Amino acid sequence: MKKLENKNIIVTAAGQGIGRATAIAYSKEGANVIATDINEKTLKSLNEEFSNIKVSTLDSTDNDAIKDFCSKIDKIDVLFNAVGYVHHGTIIECEEKDWNFSFDINVKSMYFMIKAILPKMIKQNKGNIINISSIVSSLRGLPNRFAYGATKAAIVGLTKSIAADFIKNNIRCNAIAPGTVHTPSWEDRVAAAPDPEKAKKDFIARQPMGRLATAEEIAALAVYLASDESDFITGVVHPIDGGMSI
Ligand SMILES: NC(=O)c1ccc[n+]([C@@H]2O[C@H](COP(=O)([O-])OP(=O)(O)OC[C@H]3O[C@@H](n4cnc5c(N)ncnc54)[C@H](O)[C@@H]3O)[C@@H](O)[C@H]2O)c1
Repeated sequence: MKKLENKNIIVTAAGQGIGRATAIAYSKEGANVIATDINEKTLKSLNEEFSNIKVSTLDSTDNDAIKDFCSKIDKIDVLFNAVGYVHHGTIIECEEKDWNFSFDINVKSMYFMIKAILPKMIKQNKGNIINISSIVSSLRGLPNRFAYGATKAAIVGLTKSIAADFIKNNIRCNAIAPGTVHTPSWEDRVAAAPDPEKAKKDFIARQPMGRLATAEEIAALAVYLASDESDFITGVVHPIDGGMSI
């Protein structure tokens, strides 16, 4: 028996990285997955490789588009919110536009998606929401992650609030807090550093295990949280960080 047989699941930011790995893992466990992303090209390649994963181009910051997308969803079991962006810098380098952009992509996107899909979950008297936060949040502060850390801490608050408000509606809401994960955007961050080799070593050194996580390792936790095996877990932030938070 597969762990997510016949569950209807929406995954945001599924074009690459953790979202993509999670969409694939969910599909392999028997779920009916709708993968969304702003990037039509990466979604198309996901669908070409895994034809049973449905794809839909969606800008997670466009509330009207989200409402329209969610209005067409019939039954929903799990919403997996992966969309996120890293602003590099301290408060000194963070202009108002950077702060706003970070909050729009990382937090408002989740507010929009959850607000649009929650009424269906309430009506079903069942639902499950999983949000991607980060170790860099209310769990840990790290250099040059001012706006990013603030947004990821906001996701922790948002997650716990929804878990508390809708527990009697049989709706669970949890967050995943990864350490550093080997994804395309991490490679971009390394390439953009003044000394990419040093940046790579520094990123790896942050994890006492001496390596990065793979997106598939994060996806494995996402499968557990989406499955009925984790039915007693809600309002929890789950670190998965190679010891970074010890
Ligand atoms: N990679 C890491 O080290 C790491 C660590 C902790 C947390 N996270 C979090 O995990 C999540 C995924 O990160 P990743 O590194 O796996 O992916 P990534 O950064 O490589 O990819 C992000 C995806 O989001 C999509 N996207 C960007 N803006 C969008 C928008 N407005 N609407 C819809 N989609 C949009 C992009 O097209 C892309 O496919 C993020 O929330 C990130 O903050 C990542």
